[in-house]
Amino acid sequence: MSVVTSPADRAHLSGEALPHHAQALSKPNLISVEEAKAMDVARMTDLFKAHMNPGQLHFMKLLGFHKIKVERAEGMFYIDQTGRKILDFFGGFGSLAFGHNHPRLLAARQKFQEENRHEIAIAFMSQYQAALTHNLAACSPGDLDMVFLGSSGSEAMEAAIKVAERAAGPKKPKIVYATNSFHGKTKGVLSITDGSLYRGDFRLLDNTVRVPFSDIDAIEHAFRSDPAIGTIVLETVQGGGGIITAPTPFWQKLRALCDKYGVLWVADEVQCGYGRTGRFYAFEHHGVVPDVTALAKSLGGGKTAMGAMIARRDVFMKAYGTPKSAMIHAPATFGGMGEACITSIEALNVLYDEQLIDNAASTGAYLLERLEALHEKYPKIIKDIRGQGLMVGLEFQDFSQTLPMVLRPMVSVLDDKLKGSLSGFVGALLLRDYDVLVAFTEYNRNVIRLEPPLICSRENVDTFIAALDALLGRGIVAIVKDFVKSQMG
Ligand SMILES: Cc1ncc(COP(=O)(O)O)c(C=O)c1O
Repeated sequence: MSVVTSPADRAHLSGEALPHHAQALSKPNLISVEEAKAMDVARMTDLFKAHMNPGQLHFMKLLGFHKIKVERAEGMFYIDQTGRKILDFFGGFGSLAFGHNHPRLLAARQKFQEENRHEIAIAFMSQYQAALTHNLAACSPGDLDMVFLGSSGSEAMEAAIKVAERAAGPKKPKIVYATNSFHGKTKGVLSITDGSLYRGDFRLLDNTVRVPFSDIDAIEHAFRSDPAIGTIVLETVQGGGGIITAPTPFWQKLRALCDKYGVLWVADEVQCGYGRTGRFYAFEHHGVVPDVTALAKSLGGGKTAMGAMIARRDVFMKAYGTPKSAMIHAPATFGGMGEACITSIEALNVLYDEQLIDNAASTGAYLLERLEALHEKYPKIIKDIRGQGLMVGLEFQDFSQTLPMVLRPMVSVLDDKLKGSLSGFVGALLLRDYDVLVAFTEYNRNVIRLEPPLICSRENVDTFIAALDALLGRGIVAIVKDFVKSQMG
């Protein structure tokens, strides 16, 4: 016998009209999962314009990215709606260390689901969070032992500046940050992200001091002249700034200055960490350890959203070490959900089992060597090659003043941001003609960012180099003409 409980059920059985407040809601016009998967590019475009960001579509169109619907993704490749395989040298800005859909990550996630494990149990301790925080401490040098889990790089960096602020104390509330920095778009870290592109005219924190990146004298001057400075935040390798780092003596002096002036050093490793440069953390190349660091991107194995702030134990305990202060920044609702944690746990195991950090170092060195050869071959087009491991920048010459007169009217149809920037043209044509995807940089439009998955092989590098060589071999004039033509079509 069934038990009828709801007013709708009772009204249905008795034939009475439902009271207004009890009427069953009709289902809105919802798209189903299967319909979403089957959606074509035209409908995606309409919905993107209607509900997401029409302006962003403008940039996708400029680069030809708007024509692609990714159907599947495996290893180093996206596979689009026509079955075309696109070699991924973009790597989700460093989020795809394992490539797409690594089988061990898929298997761990599937098993977790089949076992009906819990995702959220904020009231209880989580064995998954316990294991992941242990693993992160095990991967981190020194006493970088205390971990806060979140779901993005911005959230990890917010946690980083908060723990530092509390540990530095009320007399040292000021934060030093660098020119061309990128630390995220949430309100706190936006104040130490040095770009009008993101800042717009938002109101920012007023306790910040900007210094030129890698200028140790400017940093020392700031520390010496302002005792209220308690924290300095730097990306160890600036990604959005165009793959820029500083030499080892800089980092060693920075550590010494921080110790001398009682300033906490926060190393943002969201993009350059997690093995990308050939060490787990990029700062490990320099033999120094910061007070606080942050990871995100590949921490989720390219399958989930995971971010972590990792602090030295004494820093963390100063900030949150008593029952009174423990809850000030904990917990986050989605910080360390079950399946996300086990994905990150398995990912860290894969990172070492498959020796992907070593691969980043050796394949990265090979990529740099092959790019240097192209630099020598095309000195009028390529200005600089730089980077470490699989975090590489390729800077083109600025041709805004040198372009033949005949091409100038054509280029004027282009977006302001891309004018005079060969990287936009090269990126668009690499995708259109050679099935290769690369990334751009926020602050230097002449730089292409190469952050392929850490599973990248020498053969993948050869494919990429052959494509770039063939494209650059056309010469600047042909590249610009081809690009402008692509905009007309
Ligand atoms: C160095 C750095 N810090 C912080 C962030 C912010 O990460 P998210 O986009 O996950 O919030 C990024 C993202 O690109 C980054 O590159």
